[in-house]
Amino acid sequence: MKHISSEIKYDLYESMDELSSEDKSLMLAAIEATGTAYAPYSNFHVGAAVLMENGQVVRGSNQENAAYPSGLCAERVAVFAAGSQFPGVKIKAIAITAMFDDLKEPLSVSPCGDCRQVMAEYEHRYKANIRLIITAGKGKIMVIPNTKTLLPLMFNAENLKK
Ligand code: THU
Repeated sequence: MKHISSEIKYDLYESMDELSSEDKSLMLAAIEATGTAYAPYSNFHVGAAVLMENGQVVRGSNQENAAYPSGLCAERVAVFAAGSQFPGVKIKAIAITAMFDDLKEPLSVSPCGDCRQVMAEYEHRYKANIRLIITAGKGKIMVIPNTKTLLPLMFNAENLKK
């Protein structure tokens, strides 16, 4: 028997002004994307902005449904839109934020398990890290170097090979 452990490493910034100009403008795009959320049930408006290797930024926001499980998170709306609009183009980074509809300040948010799986598949498929830039509340921002960090021991295409 071997004891194996893994640890999560990420950078925590005190404010958006400490970010690189690329990361800051991606976060501003995510903040803007919260304005397109359809979240009448949770009132939790999530925005995501995906930066592609070709420089394009694709935005997404959560889209809820009266049949609750039929809705989709902002991250998957953005990543799937990016994959369908720019097939074959790598994703470099994704910024994620959230706001309550009556409180216009970025909240702490953390991608759900399904979104982690979806983002990690793109990372695995293109063999290129996807940086995650995520609001952590009180103006702080987490920058996580890749999606694998958030999904250790992930299930991926290799598991389906005989
Ligand atoms: N949601 C997202 O869009 N992304 C996340 O990272 C967490 C949760 C959405 C799903 C649902 O519309 C609402 O936030 C409350 O869970």
